[in-house]
Amino acid sequence: MSLEKIIFEKNNDLSKIIDKKKVPEHVAIIMDGNGRWATKKGLPRSYGHNKGVNVLKEIIKASKKLGCRVLTVYAFSTENWSRPKKEVDFLLDLFSKVLKREIEEIHQELIKIKFIGDLTPLTENLKEIICSSESLTKHNKNFLLNICVNYGGRQEIVKVAKELALKSSLGEIKPSEVNEELFNSELLTQGSKDPELLIRTSGEKRISNFLLWQLAYSEIYISDVLWPDFNEFEFLKAIIDYQSRNRRFGGIESLPNESFEDSRYSS
Ligand code: IPE
Ligand code: IPE
Ligand code: MG
Repeated sequence: MSLEKIIFEKNNDLSKIIDKKKVPEHVAIIMDGNGRWATKKGLPRSYGHNKGVNVLKEIIKASKKLGCRVLTVYAFSTENWSRPKKEVDFLLDLFSKVLKREIEEIHQELIKIKFIGDLTPLTENLKEIICSSESLTKHNKNFLLNICVNYGGRQEIVKVAKELALKSSLGEIKPSEVNEELFNSELLTQGSKDPELLIRTSGEKRISNFLLWQLAYSEIYISDVLWPDFNEFEFLKAIIDYQSRNRRFGGIESLPNESFEDSRYSS
């Protein structure tokens, strides 16, 4: 039976066909489609966001169970401030409520939680909950959950450039010392390897200002499923698809009968 057929036989336990030695260490997800999911059902967009939280819980469990070490999810972008104030307020309030409600369980599961993005414009209440959640879980080593809030990839790159320029003006580094390693060390994701896999739900084929530096060589998987309908099965499908990719990083894979030069075709 072809892999496709196995995958689409919904009763199959996909975890059995996953190569445990090729599980991505870091998965990044653009959780998209909450609003459309709710609208399709004749419900307000807020229902989609609420349902999306349950899906995130399922995916955290699934990725941890599979052996991933880092999950980075896009929860609110620097561009999302342009939404109606009611929706923005609802989302920020949802983050506080969910974090308060779930942090004990997150800690018991030995998950370290980190918020990535410019947190300065958030309410004092949300900033406090974020700060206490990060400090409660900071020694957990099993699994890292990065939640990107008021995050923008370009803004992150500008922030790194500013920090390096400042260090240089203070004489702490020489401009000639700026390299990828130094740049990496100032990123908000510093300490984690780049995501091997990026998943975006809802069928949109864009990056929307997410992890622009870190996704340079990530494999991209687009799922047509809207985030509130995404689940462990769909996540495992993404992993299986990832495992079938040939990651060349600019090199070539040697194929049988492949040659580089042949006098018959010389110019
Ligand atoms: C993703 O779902 C959640 C956030 C961006 C906060 P959307 O709210 O973007 O849902 P759609 O894309 O409008 O359906
Ligand atoms: C990306 O989704 C941001 C998050 C999932 C938080 P958007 O719905 O904001 O992205 P666009 O507008 O489709 O590019
Ligand atoms: Mg969207």
